[in-house]
Formats: sequence, C-alpha cells, structure tokens
Amino acid sequence: MTVHGADSVDEAHAAGGRLVVGRSDIVTPLARERARDLGVEIVVDAGGTSPAAPPTPPPPASRLADPLPAAGSTPAIPRTATLFDSPPPATSPSPALHRRGAPLPPQVRIDRLIDDRAPGPAAEPVGRVTVVGAGNVGMITAMRLAESDRIDEVVLVDIAGDRAAGIALDITHASPLLGFSTRVRGVRTLAEAGVSEYVVITAGKARTPGMSRTDLVDTNAAIVGALTADAVATSPDAVLLIVTNPLDEMTQHAWQVSGLPTDRVIGMAGVLDSSRFEALSALAAGVHPDRVDAVALGSHGAEMVLPVSRATVAGRPITDVLPGPMIDELVDRARNSGAEVVGLLKSGSAFFAPGLSAARMVLAMIDQSDDVLAATVAPAGQYGITAGYVGLPVRLNRSGLAQIVEVPLSDAELAELRGAAASIAERVQALDTVGARPLDTVGARPLDTVGAR
Ligand code: LAC
Repeated sequence: MTVHGADSVDEAHAAGGRLVVGRSDIVTPLARERARDLGVEIVVDAGGTSPAAPPTPPPPASRLADPLPAAGSTPAIPRTATLFDSPPPATSPSPALHRRGAPLPPQVRIDRLIDDRAPGPAAEPVGRVTVVGAGNVGMITAMRLAESDRIDEVVLVDIAGDRAAGIALDITHASPLLGFSTRVRGVRTLAEAGVSEYVVITAGKARTPGMSRTDLVDTNAAIVGALTADAVATSPDAVLLIVTNPLDEMTQHAWQVSGLPTDRVIGMAGVLDSSRFEALSALAAGVHPDRVDAVALGSHGAEMVLPVSRATVAGRPITDVLPGPMIDELVDRARNSGAEVVGLLKSGSAFFAPGLSAARMVLAMIDQSDDVLAATVAPAGQYGITAGYVGLPVRLNRSGLAQIVEVPLSDAELAELRGAAASIAERVQALDTVGARPLDTVGARPLDTVGAR
C-alpha cells in the first residue's frame, strides 16, 4: 500500500501526466484537492499494484561511519557539506491523512491569524546541539533531536559516570530504525561536548510527589548556575534553552549568570503547557489534537495563563465547541498536569512531553520556522511587562528569540499575565544573590559568582 499525498500529485503534474495509484493505495484528501486544482487525473491501476516507484535516491552519506572521536576529545563542529548533499529521506505521509472524514473546517492556526510574514529561508544544517542532563527529559530531547536528522551531532552531558555515553550509544543503535545519521555522543562535561550552537539544560533535581516546583529552587539554582557558566565558557555564541524547574526562575537565573543578551537565553514550558491543554481539549472535543490551537502563557506553574479567548477547535472558538465549565476544568487540569503525572509515577516527573517540547523549540530555531510558540522570555514592555522572564508567544530563529508576538487578550487575561510576571519577578528577587542585572544588560559579566547560593 502506498500513501499518495499532494507531493505525488505535484510530481504527476510536473511529469505532465496522470497519477496512477494501486487499488489498495490511499490518496489523501489534500492530494485529491490538489489534483482537482491542477487538473491531474487520478486513475486506479487495473492490475491493482502501485505504479513503479521512482528511482531510489542514493542513501545519505552516513555520519555514523565517521570514526568515533577519542574519549575526552572535543572535535570541531562537523561542517561537511557533502553530508547534506544527498536528497533528504522520504517524508512521512501528509498530516492530512489524520483528517480523513473529519467534518470540521480546516484548522486556522494562531500564527496565521496574527502575521503573514513569509517563512524563513530553508534551514542550513546545524553542527552541534548539547543536551545537559541525561535523565529522562534529556534523553527524550536528545533522541528527538537526533531523529530529526537536521543536526550533525547531538551530545548528551551528564556527570553520572558513563550514563550519557550509554544513552548516546543506545540512541545511536536506533539510527537504522529511525533513519537518521546524526552522530550522538555522551560525555561528562560541557567542555568535552565542545562548541555548540544550542545548549539545552535539563539537569536538576526532579519533583517528588507533594513537592512544588518552587521547592526545588535552591538545589536547582546551584546546578543551573554552574552549568550555565560552563556552557558560556565553552560555547560563548550558543543559545541556551532552559528546561530545569522551577522553570521561569531558572531561566532568569541562567540569564543573570550567563552575561548573554536576553534573546539568547530562553525557557521551555509554554510549548509543553500548550500541548497539554491542546491534548486534553482534543480528547474532550473528540477531534484530532492537530485541530486544537491554544497557547499557554504566564508561569510554568500556578500562574499559568491559558487565554481561552485565543483557543480554537477546528478554527472555531473553543467556547463555541465546549461548555464553559468543561473548559475551566481543562484549564485547571492542564495547569496541574505536571503534578498529576508526578503523582502517578510516584518517583520522577513527566518526560515524554517535556523532552519533546524542548526538542520542538530547538528545531523551531534551526528551521527558523514561522510558528508562534509559547516560551519563557524577557519582554521589553510587550504586554506592558518589563518585570523579567515570563511565558509569552514568540517566534524563534537561529539566534534564539526573534520576536515577541503580541496577540489580543481580554482584559482579565492580560491582568492575569501581568500578575504572573510580577509573581515570577518576586520569586527571582528572593533567589537572586548574584546581583541585580538590569534586564537590558548585554555583554559579559564575571562568571566567578556562578551558582553562589
Ligand atoms: C512538568 C515538569 C517537567 O510540568 O515541570 O511535567
């Protein structure tokens, strides 16, 4: 069975012919629509077999075939152009497949409603992304990044013995299964990882049942502070993505320690919280999760703001699709989803959705995608906020934060968002023994106070 997407129709059109499909093949709705638009006739092959496949492109040169670097060495970022000269691997079937038979109108995503900017240029490959912390979140992040096959090398860093090396090897063993040629390496220090374009910090103590994210603050501030210093020392031009909890405070703490401009230190949480709300709402509405669009702002915690006025199901306001009390429950459940998973796991916290969310953000930067994502960033007056880091809708690019996107919010939502920013700022104030660094400070600061808590 072959799945024919819009691409197949385009190819048939370019070849000036018809699209011949096998009896058991699937032609996606998008492909049918494209065929109608282009006047391409779709004919079922009488023999019931798929038409001859186009010649298979040569397999990409394998980065895995490169000799492994000696332990402890810090190879330069591989930039071998030939690695990317081969055609990309076959893409998966069109997402429109998921929508077969769905009676709802096409999804209108929040980004399309806001701005019509053209997407960025085609993504160049990235040399190295380092993921610090080979715990559950870090390993999922690393695996997803490797699987994307858009990065020469993904390095996992963990101080715990050879854990990072073991996980890196395990991910490498999956490369034929997942079809990637990204090299995956595991080391104990950021210096051994080498110069990286992106450093994702997931290391820290995880929550145990009954523990709030804020309870983690002292331990994790020391860890994140020290790692941030190491990251900047090794990779002064990197973008830092902070994942460690309590997320908002740790992101601002990392920025303070790093001496980097605010657009190069961002926090992951809004992508995760938005995904949780979208997943729960999709279940409640009985639609594919792709058809729910929502953005979670504010803090990654009690002050999470889920602007219901912005949420849509299949392009319709969520308030037209689900009853108000149910939406309130969904908001509450999304806000408490982290704790709900902690309670079920008994030890450790969620990792699939958090790890995938971190990877999603790195890939959005690499791809310079035009998507609007929620991220923890430092606004310079947008939404009337200058207090410090808080979750807002953003566009990302290769250099980190490209733009804070101002979406219309109701007065109540805006007040909640400002309240969240003020609460985070208070907690950061209590945490900060490194010294108040004005948010618009750009440039180096001494790093010897790192982790001094
Ligand atoms: C959660 C943790 C990772 O929300 O903050 O699951």
